[in-house]
Amino acid sequence: MHQPAITGSGVFTPSEVITNDELVAAFNAYADRWNAEHAEAIAAGAAEAVAHSSSEFIVAASGIERRYVLDKTGVLDPEVMHPWLPERAMEDPSVMAEMGVAACRAALDMGGIDGAEIDLILCAASNHERAYPAIAVEIQQLLGAGGFAFDMNVACSSATFGIQAAADMIRAGSARKALVVSPEICSAHLEWRDRDCHFIFGDVATAVLIEREEEATGPRFTIRSTRCATQFSNNIRNNNGFLRRTRKGHMEDRRDMQFMQNGRKVFKEVLPMVSAHIADHLAEAGVAASDLKRLWLHQANKTMNDYIGKKVLGREPEPGEQPNILQDYANTSSAGSIIAFAQHSADMTDGQMGLICSFGAGYSVGSVIVERRG
Ligand code: COA
Repeated sequence: MHQPAITGSGVFTPSEVITNDELVAAFNAYADRWNAEHAEAIAAGAAEAVAHSSSEFIVAASGIERRYVLDKTGVLDPEVMHPWLPERAMEDPSVMAEMGVAACRAALDMGGIDGAEIDLILCAASNHERAYPAIAVEIQQLLGAGGFAFDMNVACSSATFGIQAAADMIRAGSARKALVVSPEICSAHLEWRDRDCHFIFGDVATAVLIEREEEATGPRFTIRSTRCATQFSNNIRNNNGFLRRTRKGHMEDRRDMQFMQNGRKVFKEVLPMVSAHIADHLAEAGVAASDLKRLWLHQANKTMNDYIGKKVLGREPEPGEQPNILQDYANTSSAGSIIAFAQHSADMTDGQMGLICSFGAGYSVGSVIVERRG
């Protein structure tokens, strides 16, 4: 058995930013237009007027202040309200592969290794832009990697489940050097016309490089232990899929073909699930909560993270102990905890331990206990 370690991490951040104020101005313009168009039905009580959104609500309910997106022009156009991401020619790299490769290159640079040395790539994300061939196989080709690659999807927990899968393969010897890459184009599965959720997502790609620890050349995070769990729930759901076509062969514009959630229920059900999961994982691994120097949590909601941080540590986390990045990136699905890890781990010293934890649709929860070495 080989000991796996994270030797690099990388983040690709799109260049376009949407602030809450910009987003709310576009949403409210859309609401006004919709209400004017449906004035008669609203007056007759046959339709409900769309209420205005507000930046104050968004910050208070979520902690989100802005988000990065691949295209803001479409999202902020009240006539469009979704990103413009033109279909690409088959000879060109797909969007997810392109952003995934950028994150992978950053992780490879950090680990000081070449793409050709990689023999396993997992593209672990909430959505994949086509059914096949796998995005991971395209990334493999673009990086000049060998071995094998495949896509996997466990929604917001995709990256941590991917880390467990890659770490187990490295332990067993079926892979030697792996990349777990999470390109998340959340802007394309968010219903920007739904006031209850129009503010929650952003776009990003992350990658982690995992190797046999004995082959690491620089500082690394030993993967001490991983733990994954799932429990079926409809409270976060997206029905889009290959059965979407209607009898007439048309594609439908249906609300359930985008992200939907019952946010309040998610809060109530996922928080105890995650807190118990982390407590059990730590106990099983023989690690005390007081041994954890840092928590890199899933980035969906600030209140949620404050609650989990307090529950796990048994006290208010000190500044820097549980870093949030959601104020800048919003919820980036599986990539969130990895952005937090990539941006807030360089200062850790030999022997310090931390926990990466993601959770979301499924329900699913994945945790990874790491120890800094070197
Ligand atoms: N602007 C202004 N007011 C809004 C609003 C908006 N954009 N959206 C909702 N509201 C109002 C509602 O109308 C409601 O008003 P009411 O109480 O008068 O009926 C009130 O705010 C509360 O709405 P609610 O949806 O219950 O808000 P919330 O405090 O639960 O926050 C979420 C909403 C989505 C941020 C929050 O539920 C959440 O983050 N849940 C967990 C999400 C999660 O982890 N999901 C995983 C996804 S991967």
